[in-house]
Amino acid sequence: MLPKNGAEAAAVAPKADFPKKLLLSFLFFMTNSFSYHGKYIEFTLYQQEKCKIVGVCLKQCLVHQMLHYDYTRKCIFTLINRSLMKEFWDKRYSEEGFAYGEQPNMFFKNQLDKIDPGRILLPADGEGRNGVYAATQGWDVNAFDISSSGKQKADELAKTQGVKIDFEVGTLEEMNYAPESFDVIALIFAHFPLTIKETYHKEFLKLLKPGGIIIFEAFSKDHLEYNAKHPEVGGPKNIDLLYSAEELEDYFDILEAQMIIKTEAKLSEGQYHKGLGSVLRYIGKKAQ
Ligand SMILES: C[S@@+](CC[C@H](N)C(=O)[O-])C[C@H]1O[C@@H](n2cnc3c(N)ncnc32)[C@H](O)[C@@H]1O
Repeated sequence: MLPKNGAEAAAVAPKADFPKKLLLSFLFFMTNSFSYHGKYIEFTLYQQEKCKIVGVCLKQCLVHQMLHYDYTRKCIFTLINRSLMKEFWDKRYSEEGFAYGEQPNMFFKNQLDKIDPGRILLPADGEGRNGVYAATQGWDVNAFDISSSGKQKADELAKTQGVKIDFEVGTLEEMNYAPESFDVIALIFAHFPLTIKETYHKEFLKLLKPGGIIIFEAFSKDHLEYNAKHPEVGGPKNIDLLYSAEELEDYFDILEAQMIIKTEAKLSEGQYHKGLGSVLRYIGKKAQ
């Protein structure tokens, strides 16, 4: 997993020694200011200015051979990416109405309805349509998402439906879920950047109980063509964020795959998933 803060970064970063760790800590403090924007400290600099400072600081670290290039690059891009994504999603979820509707995703609903209720985790649950549905069916729901506006909407939806869900704002690194604690983990249009994609999916497997199930639906790599023809279907425009069957088989190698299909789907989910797209659907079970 990537470091959560400067202290952790300094502790795990290859080649770093004191007092170089101080510079390193500062670097991560600055980059963290992207992801924790407004939560811990108010920077008066604009994002661009912060980028410049981080850039200069990073260059110094590299010049002095304090960090391995690939490691540093991965951490910095992950943190900046996270912050930009958070801004994007907060803006979208601040709009009126529910971006992907209030109803659960159909594939998720159909699969969940076949399983006896237990404890479920919904990473990247957005405005909570799937988490809230699970709660109405008697599931004990944990969900997380980087968007605080998403959480507000999820809480509203839960209240309207008369249920409670434990929805936290943040990334997987910031959650404290116990290993093997979920009967189901549902990944519904959870499109993560390449820098964390594989790590996250492997971590999800650790959180699944023996005999637990992964329910997955997301846009496939073929979706780029669909999106180009009909932008209202939505979905990422960066191929790295999309999924292939091979990728899923690799991430979920320890599961027994019960379904893996790439299919065209006519989506009608709020105002941002409207029309024909290419999705991957996957169900996998962890051995008892
Ligand atoms: C297309 S939306 C899907 C939302 C929801 N799963 C649904 O189907 O309605 C993708 C979601 O991923 C979230 N997200 C992206 N990167 C994330 C990360 N690293 N950790 C947690 N959530 C993330 C975004 O905030 C956004 O809500």
